[in-house]
Amino acid sequence: MQDRIEQLRQEFSVKLGQAASKEAVEGLRIEYLGRKGIMRDLLSAMAGLSAEEKPKAGSLVNVFKNEITAAIDAKFKEFSVSDAPAKKAGDFDITMPGIAPGIGHKHPLTQVTEEICQIFVRMGFEIAQGPEVETEYYNFQALNIPKDHPSTDAFDTFFLDLAPHKKNKIDHNWLLRSQTSTVQIRVMEKRKPPLKIIAPGRVFRPDATDASHSFMFHQIEGLLVDKKVTFAELKGALALFASQMFGPGTKTRFRPHFFPFTEPSAEVDISCIICSGRGCRVCSQKGWLEVLGAGMVNPAVFDAVGYDSEKYTGFAFGMGVERLAMLKYGITDIRLFYENDLRFLRQF
Ligand code: PHE
Repeated sequence: MQDRIEQLRQEFSVKLGQAASKEAVEGLRIEYLGRKGIMRDLLSAMAGLSAEEKPKAGSLVNVFKNEITAAIDAKFKEFSVSDAPAKKAGDFDITMPGIAPGIGHKHPLTQVTEEICQIFVRMGFEIAQGPEVETEYYNFQALNIPKDHPSTDAFDTFFLDLAPHKKNKIDHNWLLRSQTSTVQIRVMEKRKPPLKIIAPGRVFRPDATDASHSFMFHQIEGLLVDKKVTFAELKGALALFASQMFGPGTKTRFRPHFFPFTEPSAEVDISCIICSGRGCRVCSQKGWLEVLGAGMVNPAVFDAVGYDSEKYTGFAFGMGVERLAMLKYGITDIRLFYENDLRFLRQF
């Protein structure tokens, strides 16, 4: 029995090697594994063996059968792979629609940031950027915010536990910037007036997250410095911005406020874009929406960067991108911007 199997094995391997088509392999399958095939004959031949010989012969036959089955399967696969390109070339249906790749788009916050920046770029502002990890000096002191100001408190700012930066002689405390006003200082340190910049970026504050607060959000800072810049130019620039962003009828209103880095300072409202000033739920019946902070650059800030505050004046403003995007699109929960829920994002 063993010799017979060995002989069959050699024959099979030669025949399989010669099989040049799927059909030839199928022929071999029938010849060896079919109902009247060689395997069947081997099994019937076992009937004539003694009880001692049977188990050994049975296992030899089984091993051989498995070998043949696996070899035939593998050979079939070879053909289906090598058949594929030939088939494709002939049967390719050029009218069949392709599989379109999923096309993404800009996040609504990116869209609104770009829209705001473009309005100012058209007015001649250039885009500037600064680091998100900052020193206390750029976030506070250079902006005329004294060391004991409440915003320098750890409740209001994320201080970082970093090794002191040897090269920086002015300040050693690192933090995540809480406002983009830092970019004013960084740009003025490097450049001489006149300058007109707009600086978009992320800011961080340790606020508990809710529908209107996030520990991270986006601001856009504006800064213009030149000779003889007045509050009238600030009002003009922001009125033009409001009408371009929210529509031609949008009015602006400046309310006195305090910021250490501007003097005088104002909070700027626009007439409610939902009710046009008549009073509604969105504006809490006031008819106005607060959208940004602004003012004339405080001479102390010019002193910090070495600008001559007798010669130059300027204005600065800062606005929150999320707030403007929420107003523009009627979004009532800030968290929607950060959850990556495509059902939300696809609407923009
Ligand atoms: N940095 C201020 C804030 O975060 C906004 C601001 C910028 C106000 C520039 C005035 C001038 O609230």
